[in-house]
Amino acid sequence: MKAAVYYENGGPEVLRYEDVPDPELHRKGIVIRVEAVSIEGGDTLNRYRGTLVTRPHVVGYQAAGEVVAVGEEVDNIRIGDKVVTTGGFGSHAELRAVPARTAWVIPPGMDVRKAAAIPVPFGTADDCLFEFGRMKKGDIVLVQAGASGVGVAAIQLAARAGAAMVLATASSDERLERLKPLGLTHGINYQADDVVEQVMRLTDKKGCDVIVDSVGGPTLQSSILSLAYRGRVSMVGQAGREPMKVDVGTMMGGNRSLSGVFLGAEITTDRVHDNIQRLIEEVARGELQVVIDRTFPLSEAAEAHRYIESRQAVGRVLLIP
Ligand SMILES: NC(=O)c1ccc[n+]([C@@H]2O[C@H](COP(=O)([O-])OP(=O)(O)OC[C@H]3O[C@@H](n4cnc5c(N)ncnc54)[C@H](OP(=O)(O)O)[C@@H]3O)[C@@H](O)[C@H]2O)c1
Repeated sequence: MKAAVYYENGGPEVLRYEDVPDPELHRKGIVIRVEAVSIEGGDTLNRYRGTLVTRPHVVGYQAAGEVVAVGEEVDNIRIGDKVVTTGGFGSHAELRAVPARTAWVIPPGMDVRKAAAIPVPFGTADDCLFEFGRMKKGDIVLVQAGASGVGVAAIQLAARAGAAMVLATASSDERLERLKPLGLTHGINYQADDVVEQVMRLTDKKGCDVIVDSVGGPTLQSSILSLAYRGRVSMVGQAGREPMKVDVGTMMGGNRSLSGVFLGAEITTDRVHDNIQRLIEEVARGELQVVIDRTFPLSEAAEAHRYIESRQAVGRVLLIP
């Protein structure tokens, strides 16, 4: 099969389009013919500095397509089903093998490209807000990197759950403008304004009850300083690629909390599996939106990664084999 591969970490230029052996079917797994790859924030980060567990390495957490082989111990998925899959690597390819446990059957008629972009960002945003952030109706929510994959999911989920206000940060006014139809109340352009000052101004000095932070580093510090009394930060990523050095001195006095969130640790549990299936069905019914910014052919994976890192994309960029 063809795949986008690399032999060393680095910028988008390390990606090459080559022939590699087809992936192997396991007894408890499936193989899909990939129809759409959703490039996740973790994919660009892994290309930049993650471990190459295969060589050449086929990066990528998430892809959707048609099932072409089913392991002998799998009884809930059939050849011909359309599914979306997640796994530690292997999405940037024409064929992909995953355990059946990290595959979700797509409802009949659903757009495979939209389905490709659901499990990780929506499942993560949902856990950040509700499972770990304990968000409830009337809360003020801040989504750092609102234009990211996790961000566009979190804005919609928070608005739908009855947030009193959904605030989000991004690197330009134009990016923030595109988030308004998703439920954004106020955007904060962190290139132009100080995030903590703006949060305190917009919330009448109360701060935020729940914050989703997928950027880390100095951004995480601004999240901590933007918390209300009893506020919760769900720390879920390091898109900023900067060291995670923060001062938690303001946490105790305000009964505030900071939770790390890692979807991968629980993705094979019934709780997360069922939650993701529900989110897929909600997108299929039009209750939640998948925002697809652009698509590229798989052979242009380097260009697609470069485009994402230029910070122009809002929502997801897809690769089509
Ligand atoms: N723990 C988990 O379970 C889990 C699950 C999903 C994702 N994640 C992590 O969460 C992070 C975000 O994932 P995602 O899929 O939402 O990412 P994404 O769609 O690629 O978006 C990342 C966003 O981060 C912002 N950003 C800030 N500093 C950046 C920098 N130095 N380089 C690039 N972007 C920067 C950009 O928005 P602006 O330009 O507007 O600032 C960009 O849109 C990643 O680190 C990913 O690994 C973790």
